[in-house]
Amino acid sequence: MKIAITIVATLAFLGIFAGIFIYAGWVNVAADVPHEPYVFKVLEVAREQAIRRDASGLSVPADLSDPKRARRGSGNYDAMCVNCHLSPGQENSEIRRGMYPEPPNLTHPEPATDGVLQSRIRFWVIKHGIKASGMPAWSKGGVSDQAIWDLVAFLNCPPSLDATSYRQLVHASDGHVHDSADHSREEHSSDEHHHEPDQSLH
Ligand code: HEC
Repeated sequence: MKIAITIVATLAFLGIFAGIFIYAGWVNVAADVPHEPYVFKVLEVAREQAIRRDASGLSVPADLSDPKRARRGSGNYDAMCVNCHLSPGQENSEIRRGMYPEPPNLTHPEPATDGVLQSRIRFWVIKHGIKASGMPAWSKGGVSDQAIWDLVAFLNCPPSLDATSYRQLVHASDGHVHDSADHSREEHSSDEHHHEPDQSLH
């Protein structure tokens, strides 16, 4: 009984302390101040476990390695992702430098031990996004599942893809298309999306 009272009292104390801490405005939410390492670790494990749990049942399209998919994906990648995740040959961008967590450089990904799981995880993250990180849920922007798999197919291109081959791939793509099923062109003309990398990127 005494133990139970001690536990309840401790939890109540911690709850009150957390409430005071939060309401006093002592949580630092600035993106230019990193989390304490233990907070970062907790968030990282929570994110990885949650995504892995949800993504591991996804069925991967049989034609994921069809070059047509990667080509279609490259057009959307160039239109929607490069500012945060960079393109081959690009070293950094203004937005990426200021973000916390920093968006991973997807042109130089960590080598995967399980390629199929990596594809599932990439699909899940592109479709659902990650809360409070800056990574959008592209499905809410109208990107179809098939177009998301095209993006995954593009990301699976070997890291040896250089800036020139990347440009050629993007030029050969359908540009910015949200539904790869009917190849319908979205609101943009091809010229608008076959642009050179943003000159303001450093
Ligand atoms: C506004 C910035 C921003 C844009 C635009 C953006 N992302 Fe992200 N993305 C992020 C951030 C930040 C993370 C890391 C989130 C985290 O780790 O909590 C991320 C994570 C990811 C990951 C997970 C990578 C890994 O190894 O864990 C993938 C895959 C990804 N993004 C793909 C894309 C694709 C494809 C697009 C374009 C359709 C895109 N992102 C557009 C910010 C962005």
